[in-house]
Amino acid sequence: MPSSKDGRALRIAIAIMAAGKGTRLKSKHPKVLHEVGGKPLLAHVIAAAIKVVPAKDVYAIIGHEADRVREAVAHTGVSFVLQKEQRGTGHALMTAREALGPYDVVIVLSGDAPLITSSTIEKLRDFHISRRAAMTLLAARMDNPTGYGRIIRKSAKKEEVQAIVEQNSLAAAQKKIREVNAGFYAFAVAPFFRTIEKLSTNNPHHEFYLTDMAGILSKNKERVVVIETSDAYEVLGGNTRAELVDIDQRIRAVKRQQLMAGGVTIFYPETCVIDSDVEIAADTTIEPFVQILGGTRIGSDCRIRSYSGISNSKIGDGVLVRPGCVIDGARIDKAAVIGPYSHLRPGSEIGEGAHVGNFVETKNIRLGTGSKANHLTYLGDAEIGEGVNVGAGTITCNYDGVNKHKTVIEDGVFIGSDATLVAPVRIGKGAYVGAGSCITDDVPADSLALGRARQVVKQGWAKSKRSAGKTNQ
Ligand code: UD1
Ligand code: CA
Repeated sequence: MPSSKDGRALRIAIAIMAAGKGTRLKSKHPKVLHEVGGKPLLAHVIAAAIKVVPAKDVYAIIGHEADRVREAVAHTGVSFVLQKEQRGTGHALMTAREALGPYDVVIVLSGDAPLITSSTIEKLRDFHISRRAAMTLLAARMDNPTGYGRIIRKSAKKEEVQAIVEQNSLAAAQKKIREVNAGFYAFAVAPFFRTIEKLSTNNPHHEFYLTDMAGILSKNKERVVVIETSDAYEVLGGNTRAELVDIDQRIRAVKRQQLMAGGVTIFYPETCVIDSDVEIAADTTIEPFVQILGGTRIGSDCRIRSYSGISNSKIGDGVLVRPGCVIDGARIDKAAVIGPYSHLRPGSEIGEGAHVGNFVETKNIRLGTGSKANHLTYLGDAEIGEGVNVGAGTITCNYDGVNKHKTVIEDGVFIGSDATLVAPVRIGKGAYVGAGSCITDDVPADSLALGRARQVVKQGWAKSKRSAGKTNQ
């Protein structure tokens, strides 16, 4: 833990500015809730921050749609500061004065710049402390710096900074400066709050710019220094749709590289959309045009074939997902085979070695070890034992128009094709249900249930109909 001159541990907070509306996105949703890599911008920044300091020392400054933003990230355990009116980045920090006052150092991050890493935050912190600076800013060199604040150093080779100048206040000569303010800072708390009142709204946006603190502190003979990031991508902000898409692509490209480095084969990787929190074990193969989203976990030796979309699901080892499956909120155990074209909805638990085939929809069911439902079937609110064979076209009628009811199919049952099982109903162990049956009553173990009209055969009927037709012509 970094310590101060007198050896006392420094109290360090991280403030994340996340109150802005995001006008440039032209969206009714708050900017920091827009997603990249499958989760909100702010969630990425928080994830990096809480690797550096405990969550309670991270303060998200929220304002626009504050309740929604708070709800989206409350589970992370961070603290919140409310900036009711959004009058600029400097104003955001003014509102956090009470919360941040007790700390020695505050690191300020932008809630719309999600690529920041904990190691860069630590570098910023350590550099700031080692220089005993009042303000340290993170800089990046960009080929196209348009839109960013530019850094005016005291002299080209020195790390001391004279000021930051925002894009729309740049003098013609300053437009050439490619060293930009990344929007991440460290401040010594005492001089920061001593001078923050000097910020003014005397600028084209009539906002309090946090960036003006560089000039103010520097004029006050406080030390303002800059540290350059080695990776300019890390500081990209998602201010426009195009920037969001660019950041999303970068996050996913890195994710795929990490998975491949960990032993996962991804064919035509640029066609696969994999969220940043997904985990996939070694020796699993992902075919082209697959989406794997949310908190999905996939074991080893699986094959996920093309055009399948898997979200928030847990898949064991050696599972085969054939093409065109939609799998959401499901658990699939070892060596099961799914698809092609299966739809596994939330609460589906597919047992070891079980098969779910073409055009089968499942919801809130347990399909036991080795059981099979291979064709054209709907299984909802059902508990299905081991070694069960569910025939083609079987339907569990789980909904009576008001309530949902459960179907229980015990071990070793054989359900003939095109059966309708009207819940609540129980099919006992080892029983048979004849094809085409409508089953409304429980079936005892080891019995045969037939719920259909007996077949009638009228010999010669068709032939006589045809000849009757001819004589009528
Ligand atoms: C800011 C910097 C700019 C820098 C760039 C890097 C200022 C004035 N400019 O510009 O020098 O190059 O970041 O990405 O700071 N926010 C609040 N409350 C407010 C206003 C904004 O919390 O009242 C939040 C926003 O939600 C956002 C962050 O602060 O997450 C940055 O604001 P934004 O408007 O995006 O600043 P930039 O124009 O990108
Ligand atoms: Ca921004």
